[in-house]
Amino acid sequence: MKLFLDTANVEQVKEIAAWGVLDGVTTNPSLVAKEGKDFEETVMAMCDLVPCVSAQVTATDFDNMVMQGKEYASWHKHVVVKVPMTTEGLKAIHHFTNHGIKTNTTLVFSVPQAILAAKAGATMISPFIGRLDDIGEDGMGLIEEIMEAWQWNRFKTEVLVASTRHPRHIVEAAMLGAHICTVPYEVFKKLPMHPLTDSGLEKFLSDWKKVQK
Ligand code: G3P
Repeated sequence: MKLFLDTANVEQVKEIAAWGVLDGVTTNPSLVAKEGKDFEETVMAMCDLVPCVSAQVTATDFDNMVMQGKEYASWHKHVVVKVPMTTEGLKAIHHFTNHGIKTNTTLVFSVPQAILAAKAGATMISPFIGRLDDIGEDGMGLIEEIMEAWQWNRFKTEVLVASTRHPRHIVEAAMLGAHICTVPYEVFKKLPMHPLTDSGLEKFLSDWKKVQK
């Protein structure tokens, strides 16, 4: 499973990319607004660090989605155009696919939406699991259903588990065979940690000190 960082902060991407485990970045308008930096510069800087950076269109009609997405794609070959799951979005995804531009369908909350995006040619789809959990639904259950549908239908579209909230989401996404999981910075920082690793290392080092002359 590929691991993406869900952020618009370039320093965070630099830090995690240096671990040698980062396959890409997902941004969205809310994350970009939080950082308050120039969008094109941010995306370009990230494209130098990782091979796949999602940049979301803010237009809502086909013509303007296509215009905006084509501009993003012209910035760098690592750009993936993120398109919302609407009927205008489906048309735009189909257009981008026919023109060799990679897409990530965002705001996917159901299996029918996932199937439509795949049939329109999306490179990846982003089901938002945390937001489903937030309203009392079963986010990981949606991933389970999508992965089962994918097994029978052999869609090429990669399933990107988004809106993750804690390390267990990453474990379960991997166990279900999801292709990609995008992880917020705070959650990513928790992934290498285990108290037994810390106490074990402390013991090794203190024992080692005892035999030093
Ligand atoms: O990038 C899309 C998605 O991961 C957003 O997550 O936490 O705003 O539901 P969240």
